[in-house]
Amino acid sequence: MNSEFLVLEKSPALSGVSDLNGAKNAILVIMASLILTSGKSKLSNVPFSHDVFQMIALLESLGACVLVDQELRTLNIDTTNISNYAVNADIMKKMRASILVMGPLLARFGKAEIALPGGCLIGDRPVDMHLNAFARMGAEISLEGSCVYAQATQLKAQKFILAYPSVGATENIMMAATLTQGKTTIVNAALEPEVFDLATVLRAMGAYINLLPAGVIEVVGVQELRPVTHAIIMDRLEAGTLLLATAVTGGEITLPQGPGHSLEVFLEKLCEMGHSVNIGIDGIGIYLKATRSPRAVSFKTMPYPGFPTDLQAPMMVAQCLADGSSVVTETVFENRMLHVRELQKMGAHIELEGMIAKIKGVDRLYGANLIAPDIRASAALVIAGIAAQGSSTLSGIHHLLRGYQDLCGTLQKLGAKITFKSEVI
Ligand code: EPZ
Repeated sequence: MNSEFLVLEKSPALSGVSDLNGAKNAILVIMASLILTSGKSKLSNVPFSHDVFQMIALLESLGACVLVDQELRTLNIDTTNISNYAVNADIMKKMRASILVMGPLLARFGKAEIALPGGCLIGDRPVDMHLNAFARMGAEISLEGSCVYAQATQLKAQKFILAYPSVGATENIMMAATLTQGKTTIVNAALEPEVFDLATVLRAMGAYINLLPAGVIEVVGVQELRPVTHAIIMDRLEAGTLLLATAVTGGEITLPQGPGHSLEVFLEKLCEMGHSVNIGIDGIGIYLKATRSPRAVSFKTMPYPGFPTDLQAPMMVAQCLADGSSVVTETVFENRMLHVRELQKMGAHIELEGMIAKIKGVDRLYGANLIAPDIRASAALVIAGIAAQGSSTLSGIHHLLRGYQDLCGTLQKLGAKITFKSEVI
């Protein structure tokens, strides 16, 4: 059996210009939304992370035909022959996003058979908001073990007031509502850019979607939706990760495609640390020049447009190496501090009380043998490893491959000392 891991070494100040990939959290839901149509759609600026290949396998298991072109970064997806509404349990369990096929399947076929996507290390990841919403729309839902059987002769439009602006629940309700007669309203909807990219795709399909102020989304159902051609938005989370890798190594980076307009709270925090950040015209393009003496800043993760939970772990690394004390509070997931233990192994001064981390900055971190617990923690540990004295190993890198097309390759081009290793054990 092979053990795959990374060797991370103290790297010079990262420097250069980097392109970005399409957003992981947009491509997955948009691929699922194509179930609503019958025909050939084309997606471009596709990030080929492992989760995208899982979603391809899921769509093919339903009867779709998918043509992949990694060179051109496109997917041609023909959903004409989708006839299956039961998703293979093994595929469902491989990623959280698989729950997002439920709304489209119910809307197109009136039936969906899925397995609960299962929790992951950052939290239980329940889907009660999704299932309750479909039940309110008239679906009969039964649970047998981890299998969910849902059917609805005719979904009914409803007004939903979400107790929490859940990204997935907002997306699933939107998709189900596009083919549901009448007006469906979502109050306290998620406002993440990836939700808006989905709305753009649904509108291009012919859906009637009104994005009203203060997080209200209205969807008026139509009879049929048509295939689309769409370019996925750039990944703001990959952009944030590259900026932080540059900040902790004291370098400078230009991201010509950087979506500065959807990272404003995060970028403001980098400025508070003393880093120099410039955003291009219309918020496109990000330039960062790191300060040699970063100040520690506190932050709390919030739904968009607040500080993104998916940048909490990478940003924590920057606080560990900044001057002064800071407090990092995770409010979105109940167990998203698994990177703390790994950072402590490297000499970070972090006191953890529940989801509140109290940090005292240190002059340096030291290399250690690290284990990645989840996607964004794995990115954080890569950043810590290239900033630390000496060298580190990082195992559990399948998490990294799930969330990023080639983060290590991108960082290597900027000067990071990262080596991929595979050893027979
Ligand atoms: C999406 O997850 C993203 N994943 C996550 O990115 C991201 O962190 C999250 O939104 C928040 O921005 C994808 O888009 C594939 P939520 P999602 O529903 O939809 C609770 C990454 O690393 N909740 O907004 O699952 C939930 O447990 C991943 O790229 C319920 O209780 O997030 C969490 O505590 C991680 N019941 C909170 O709401 C439900 O039915 C936010 O979850 C649904 C959610």
